[in-house]
Amino acid sequence: MKKDLQLPDGYSSKEDYVRDLFESIAHRYDLLNTLLSFNRDKYWRRFAVARTGLRAGGTALDVCCGTGSLALELARVAGTGGRVVGVDFAPRMLAEAKRRLGRRPEGRIIELICGNAVALPFADDTFDCATIGFALRNVPSIERTIQEMQRVVKPGGRVVSLELAKPGAFGFKQLYYLYFNHLVPLLGRLGVGRRGPYSYLPHSLKDFPHQREILALFRRVGLEDVALYELTGGIVAVHVGTKAGPV
Ligand SMILES: C[S@@+](CC[C@H](N)C(=O)[O-])C[C@H]1O[C@@H](n2cnc3c(N)ncnc32)[C@H](O)[C@@H]1O
Repeated sequence: MKKDLQLPDGYSSKEDYVRDLFESIAHRYDLLNTLLSFNRDKYWRRFAVARTGLRAGGTALDVCCGTGSLALELARVAGTGGRVVGVDFAPRMLAEAKRRLGRRPEGRIIELICGNAVALPFADDTFDCATIGFALRNVPSIERTIQEMQRVVKPGGRVVSLELAKPGAFGFKQLYYLYFNHLVPLLGRLGVGRRGPYSYLPHSLKDFPHQREILALFRRVGLEDVALYELTGGIVAVHVGTKAGPV
């Protein structure tokens, strides 16, 4: 891995690298997520979905939906009268999502679409809310992605991001980074049989802005009532903003 670019040889764009990376780990993604987060990811997702303001019968978009975990949580809230759309650019992640959703009753209201977070294939003011889970670190432009999410939600609708963050508490922080920078790549390597994908994880967080900067970005793009919630000692952050305009 080139230290300056954080890209392995053969890649000139982060977008291509990220797509190939998720294509290659799709079959193990959910298992490793559960193991590496000590199953906390379920709580984090529920917390994020609770911040969307989504109600039964509502419509939600999950950007960078991957294998569909966050979309499933949204579908639980939206219920049979609702509609949830998941969009992702990695076909194998979407194939995993399709397989999983097919086995669950709430999966029936979820539609999966191949598309890019920075150019969402939806009209303005389409959804009651939009979420993105563990993916702002991966997109080619964080600002453009948030703007796109803001564009496609209705006025008064919420944009919610759930993402890894940078803990601050002395002692906990050092322990966490020991785990995240050293143990996670090792366990990931055992899980997928290769070094690359889970070595990217620490790099992606190191290059990612601090949660307070993401909060400032939410404000800068024009979202209102913005809020930041830090979970599990600050290793995860949930950002929330509301689209301005007449409801
Ligand atoms: C870490 S996974 C998160 C998946 C899911 N949101 C979750 O909570 O488990 C990141 C996902 O973002 C997708 N992704 C990354 N960049 C993207 C982009 N520009 N457009 C669409 N999907 C993208 C990847 O294909 C991958 O499925």
